[in-house]
Amino acid sequence: MSRIATRPCTPDDAADMHRLDQVCFDAPFSFERTTFDILLERPGAVSLAAVHPKQGVVGFIIVEPFSADATIVSTIDVHPDWRRRGIGRRLLHDALGQATARGLFKSYLQVYVGNVGAIAFYRRLGYRMVKLLPSFYGEGIDGYLMFLDFRTVAGIAP
Ligand SMILES: CC(C)(COP(=O)(O)OP(=O)(O)OC[C@H]1O[C@@H](n2cnc3c(N)ncnc32)[C@H](O)[C@@H]1OP(=O)(O)O)[C@@H](O)C(=O)NCCC(=O)NCCS
Repeated sequence: MSRIATRPCTPDDAADMHRLDQVCFDAPFSFERTTFDILLERPGAVSLAAVHPKQGVVGFIIVEPFSADATIVSTIDVHPDWRRRGIGRRLLHDALGQATARGLFKSYLQVYVGNVGAIAFYRRLGYRMVKLLPSFYGEGIDGYLMFLDFRTVAGIAP
C-alpha cells in the first residue's frame, strides 16, 4: 500500500478503469466502456484512482449523490493482484470523506448476493444490510441494499 497513491480520476482514466472492470467482473456486473465516460462526467460524483508508480491504475471508486444527504457507491474495483492490502478501504474512506465534507454523510450501495468477498468487505467497514433487492441485476439475480452512516463508523479508517 505504501507505494500506492490515490488521486481524483480524470476522463483519461476511463479506458484503464474499463480494462480493470473487465478483469474484476463478468456480465451482467461489468460496465460498458461508455459507462465510465458518463460516470466520470456526472455532476457531484467523487471518483478516485489508486495508482502504482509503475503499474498504473490498480483500483478505483466512484460515488455519486443519491439524495440530499446520501451518496451511492456506483463502483469500486481493486485488481485481483492488489487485494487485501487496504486499497479498497483507503478508496472508500477517502471518497466518503470527501462526500461527507459536502454534507453527504450517508452511504448506500447495491451488491450481488453472491459476491461474498465484497459483502464481507462492506460489513467489515461498517455497512449494514437494509433489504434484499429481488432481480436487481436481472431476472433471478438478486442484490442487497446496504447502508453506512460515515459519521458513526470507526471501522473504515485506514
Ligand atoms: C471488494 C474489494 C473492492 C475489496 O478491496 P480490497 O482492497 O481487497 O479490500 P481491503 O484490503 O481494503 O479490505 C479491508 C477488509 O475488508 C475485508 N475483506 C476484504 N475483502 C475480503 C474478502 N474477499 N473476504 C473476506 N473479507 C474481506 C477484510 O476484513 C479486510 O481486512 P484484512 O485484509 O485486514 O482482513 C475487492 O475485493 C474487489 O475489487 N472485488 C471485485 C470487485 C467488486 O466486487 N466490487 C464491489 C462491487 S459491489
